Amino acid sequence: MSTFDDLLTFIETETTFASSYYDESYLDRRISARMRRTKRDSYDEYLALLREDPAEREELLDTLSVNVTSFFRDGKVWTAMRDVLKDLAASNRTVRIWSAACADGREPYSLSMLALDAGLKSRQVDILATDIDENALERARQGVYTSSRTTDLDEQLSFLDAPSSYVEKDGDQIVISETVKDLVTFDRHDLITGNSKDGFDMVLCRNVCIYLDTEYKRPILETVSESLGNGGVLVLGQTETLPPDIKDRFEAEDPRLRIYRRRRSD
Ligand SMILES: C[S@@+](CC[C@H](N)C(=O)[O-])C[C@H]1O[C@@H](n2cnc3c(N)ncnc32)[C@H](O)[C@@H]1O
Repeated sequence: MSTFDDLLTFIETETTFASSYYDESYLDRRISARMRRTKRDSYDEYLALLREDPAEREELLDTLSVNVTSFFRDGKVWTAMRDVLKDLAASNRTVRIWSAACADGREPYSLSMLALDAGLKSRQVDILATDIDENALERARQGVYTSSRTTDLDEQLSFLDAPSSYVEKDGDQIVISETVKDLVTFDRHDLITGNSKDGFDMVLCRNVCIYLDTEYKRPILETVSESLGNGGVLVLGQTETLPPDIKDRFEAEDPRLRIYRRRRSD
C-alpha cells in the first residue's frame, strides 16, 4: 500500500517539480485537491493514476507550481519602490535590480515599466529575472499575457497613469513592448542551491518563502541579502519576515511594507 511519502518520492524523481523544498501541508492540500477532482480516495489509488496517465502528471505539476503573480502586485509596495527608483535615477549610474523568483515575468516587467516611469533612462537600468521553473521563464520571455475571468490585466496595469506607453493591446491579450523587454534578462536560478550574486541596488524576493519548508527559507534569505551592495534595498512579500540575525544587517526602510536597506559596512 503506497503512502503519502511514496507519492512525494514519485513526484521528486519522475517529474521536474522539486517537492522536497515545499511545506508538506501545502503539498498535501494541493494533492488532495487533485485526488478529489479525479475521484481517487487514497494516496495508493492516486499514485497508480499518476504512473499510468501523463496528462494527470501535467495537471498535478500545474497545481503544485505556485506561479501566482500579477503586474504591480500589492500596489503600496510599488508606490514605495517608485521613490527608491527616483533616488537611484539621480545617481546617473547603471541601476541593477534582481527579481528573484520572477514566475511568468510580470514582476520584472512591472519593475522595468516603473523604472522608465520614474525617469530612469533605458541604458541606466539592468534587471535580472530568475526562477527555478523553466516553463514559467519561457512564458516570461515571450511577454504575452491574456486576460481571463479571474485575471484582469487592465486592472493590474492601472497602477500606471499611461500603461499604453509600455504594452500593446491585442483583444484579450497584452504584449510587452520591446523597450520594456530590453531592460530584462531571464535566467534559471535555484535560490536554495544557487550562488548568491553581488552588488545589486535592489532585490525583490516576494512570495516564494511562504510556500517552502522552514529549513529552506534561511538559505534563500541569505542568498538574496548577500547579493545586495551597501545601501541596497531588499523587498520581501507582504507576509514574509527576516530572521533576527539577518534583519540585523538591515535598516528598516519601511518594515510594514517589508522593505529593508542593507547597512553600509565601513
Ligand atoms: C508565487 S510565485 C511569486 C512570483 C512573484 N515574485 C510575485 O510575488 O508575484 C513563486 C515563484 O517561486 C518560484 N520558486 C520556487 N522555488 C524556487 C527556488 N528554489 N528558486 C527559485 N525560484 C523558486 C516558483 O517557480 C514560482 O515561480
